[in-house]
Amino acid sequence: MDLGIKGRTAIVCAASRGLGRACAESLAREGANLTLIARNPGPLEEAAREIRAAHGVQVAAIAGDVTEAAGRDALLAACPAPDILVTNPGVRQVPGDFRSFDRAEWLKWWDVHFHSSIDLITRTTPGMAARKFGRVVNVSVSFIKFPQVGFAHSHAARVALSGAVAAMVRELVGQNVTINTVCPGLFDTDALHTNLHGHARRGNTTYEAILADRLRTCPAGRLADPKECGDLVAFLCSAQAGFMTGQNIVNDGGVYQGLF
Ligand SMILES: NC(=O)c1ccc[n+]([C@@H]2O[C@H](COP(=O)([O-])OP(=O)(O)OC[C@H]3O[C@@H](n4cnc5c(N)ncnc54)[C@H](OP(=O)(O)O)[C@@H]3O)[C@@H](O)[C@H]2O)c1
Repeated sequence: MDLGIKGRTAIVCAASRGLGRACAESLAREGANLTLIARNPGPLEEAAREIRAAHGVQVAAIAGDVTEAAGRDALLAACPAPDILVTNPGVRQVPGDFRSFDRAEWLKWWDVHFHSSIDLITRTTPGMAARKFGRVVNVSVSFIKFPQVGFAHSHAARVALSGAVAAMVRELVGQNVTINTVCPGLFDTDALHTNLHGHARRGNTTYEAILADRLRTCPAGRLADPKECGDLVAFLCSAQAGFMTGQNIVNDGGVYQGLF
């Protein structure tokens, strides 16, 4: 299926590897020109070079931190009028005991998992609405549907992002601007393996035991390929997806058992 986004301009956040990189690859395969952001310039430039070579699209690489205002300013200076925005804080979830959190700690995670995305959405959707095309996809986590012990800080901020979006989308869809959120489960990325090693250390067990335990609770019985996130995101950015907005789409191999 031709997704109808050839020549469109897309920002993809946290895109030198992992889920962000997979989103960039899928959008580039569909002919979108990209502006990517990640903190470390070397791997980011390499990713940009590889995507240009593989797909023949324009790729700009902005070295910066998307969770900080300066990084987002640099990103929007390089690409002030995107047709497509894929938000992704990049930062992996680190467990924490809510009893030890003061206001500053809660606000730190609010900035990472809520404000970094909402700021980009707020600054790009007016232009999308004026141009009568816009697709925003937030990369979140399946756990917003069933928050986990130890992650109150990040899950709260991510749930808030979906809540804010739900209140915004009806003002935008009439101008052909949609905002959806993908909620990935276990994807085979560096962040996932680092998380599993951390769980193993804290639980005084092995990485292999933790991985086997996670896979036992996943009906698909496997980790997902990041491409399975990238292609879902590309569809949500397609011309065809203009009637679908404000959704939180779980992509987790059947772990989440709720009907809605
Ligand atoms: N993998 C999973 O199973 C999974 C499932 C659900 C949700 N998620 C979420 O998806 C996000 C990405 O995870 P991933 O698995 O793709 O991680 P990953 O493989 O470690 O990749 C992270 C990417 O984000 C960039 N990045 C990290 N912090 C950044 C920042 N502050 N500003 C700009 N770029 C930044 C990294 O480059 P630099 O280090 O150079 O900045 C890298 O390109 C995380 O928020 C994670 O919680 C992951």
